[in-house]
Amino acid sequence: MTMDTIDRADASAIAGHSARTPHVTAESYRELYAASVADPEAFWAEQAQRLEWSTPFTKVKNTDFTLGQVSIKWFEDGQLNVAANCIDRHLETRADQTAIIFEPDDPATEAQHITYRELHRSVCRMANIMEDLGVRKGDRVVIYLPMIPEAAYAMLACARIGAIHSIVFAGFSPDALASRINGCDAKLVITADHAPRGGRKTPLKANTDAALLHCKDSVKLLMVRRTGEQTSWIDGRDFDYNELALEADDHSEPVPVDAEHPLFVLYTSGSTGQPKGVVHSTGGYLLFAAMTHEMVFDYHEGDVYWCTADVGWVTGHSYIVYGPLANGATTLMFEGVPTWPDAGRFWQVCEKHKVNQFYTAPTAIRALMGQGKEWVEKYDLSSLRILGTVGEPINPEAWNWYNEVVGGSRCPIVDTWWQTETGGHLLTPLPGAIDTKPGSATLPFFGVQPVVLDPHTGEEIHETECEGVLCIKDSWPAQMRTVWGDHDRFEKTYFSDYKGYYFSGDGCRRDADGYYWITGRVDDVINVSGHRMGTAEVESALVAHAKVAEAAVVGYPHPIKGQGIYCYVTLMNGVEPSDELCKELEKWVRTEIGPIAKPDLIQWAPGLPKTRSGKIMRRILRKIAEDDFGALGDTSTLAEPAVVDDLIDNRMNRA
Ligand code: WTA
Repeated sequence: MTMDTIDRADASAIAGHSARTPHVTAESYRELYAASVADPEAFWAEQAQRLEWSTPFTKVKNTDFTLGQVSIKWFEDGQLNVAANCIDRHLETRADQTAIIFEPDDPATEAQHITYRELHRSVCRMANIMEDLGVRKGDRVVIYLPMIPEAAYAMLACARIGAIHSIVFAGFSPDALASRINGCDAKLVITADHAPRGGRKTPLKANTDAALLHCKDSVKLLMVRRTGEQTSWIDGRDFDYNELALEADDHSEPVPVDAEHPLFVLYTSGSTGQPKGVVHSTGGYLLFAAMTHEMVFDYHEGDVYWCTADVGWVTGHSYIVYGPLANGATTLMFEGVPTWPDAGRFWQVCEKHKVNQFYTAPTAIRALMGQGKEWVEKYDLSSLRILGTVGEPINPEAWNWYNEVVGGSRCPIVDTWWQTETGGHLLTPLPGAIDTKPGSATLPFFGVQPVVLDPHTGEEIHETECEGVLCIKDSWPAQMRTVWGDHDRFEKTYFSDYKGYYFSGDGCRRDADGYYWITGRVDDVINVSGHRMGTAEVESALVAHAKVAEAAVVGYPHPIKGQGIYCYVTLMNGVEPSDELCKELEKWVRTEIGPIAKPDLIQWAPGLPKTRSGKIMRRILRKIAEDDFGALGDTSTLAEPAVVDDLIDNRMNRA
């Protein structure tokens, strides 16, 4: 180990501060990891006992990464119910324990503590309401809600009756919502009147009305009253959750489903085309979410755990709802944003609820770091024990600030690398077991076999120190099973570039200690404030505007967001560029996709660099956007080399 970069405080901090024994130690990590890859069947069969199975499985793993016949099945002949695992089985021992702490957007409004007993009742009611609206096992339900407890009720109610949920982040536009409703052919959309966030309000019901204009007439709408304001109403299509919940029966039997029954579909951006519906299973997914939640956050009985993500993203699925509740934990749901009413909001919530594990994204850390440490120091953060980060590479400066200012140099930081597709953490430190280095996601979780491949030959690199593309050899239980309705696309996206491996889309470096350092995406996906964005999606939104002839979108380094959205736009003949048009296009993309896709920089491009066969040379556009055009490489294959000079002269990002 290279001593200089290692945070030696880890193990002693855990033992000293909490007087608890970490779930995993350095020694048990090595032993268990070796066992997990030597005999995955035995390892996972034993781990699966942490779940309650209504029909025990006899087969553990049945997976094949061969192109043309990719198939991933875990515990395939077992049956279980996710809601029973997350709620019912805890009732005997922890009915009166808080399951969910709800901290609303406005700090002046009181927080709610929802016990497991109350959670059970609410989920049963929601399940009965859904059944009354015609939802049956296997049907899809779209959830478009703020970060309120009803979002968790809706997820668990779907799971209870075997329906498949697809959550759409409340920041997405009506168009994006409509394409997801249609994409999975949903029967029902669950939404709210409004979503309060950061003191502002998003009109979710109005957005849903607009979306449903593009969907089948049979789609029903269930509305939760969040602000209580008046909304439009269509009798026969719209249903009032709060009214129905008063009458609904609070008993509902959980329906056992096959371990491979889909639990949810979650749309995520890829390098080409429209977002794809990532399908996750019931058994393998829940097992992996629960196990990683316990071990990575070293969750112990009585801890208060807070993940600041939104349930609209996979992090919210696995680490606000499913993982923590399967473990009988107390999980905090926060409706607000880190900087409203002021930059102390996160820390005020940590102090107020005595949070033990805190999990957030580097972009939030960087934004808060910029506001100064006084905001952190105002609050008593002595309850904090573990800090986590996810979503994008964390720069060492932000890591150190998080460690020192927030964690008082006594809380191990778990930098968790994973993806919507992986269902749970694949590379991550384990507190007390794996020493950390700022900026590295360190080592694989149990059962996970990362490999670094040479991007040109596709061969595995065996030297410890190396750099290449990150792939995973062999399956893990929470691996996505397919792309909804398009298994071919699943195989092509993840198994065709590097035969026999799952291709992550990320580049990485492995250091002399065998630690992994994610270097970012190697495809046309950019990571904006920890949100995945396909450049193709933004491009197709731009060219849908009547004044735009052509567009190319790339990422560039952004001090807070990680990456910003840089757009090169060629206008239609005769259209003059102007500041107003720039604003109009920004607004256009916001409405087409949602605020998270708003362009940061728009450059008017009279022409785009193309090969003679008409292919846009993105490599060059990336370099110019990065303000690093000294080494543009070979431009001799360009059809019109002069366009490059114009783009350089008029570049928008000048360091
Ligand atoms: C990036 C979020 C570096 C990565 C859970 C990945 C990270 C993409 C990390 C997945 C990390 C996630 N360090 N990069 N700790 N975690 N990423 O699907 O590029 O929204 O491929 O899942 O985020 O984003 P997704």
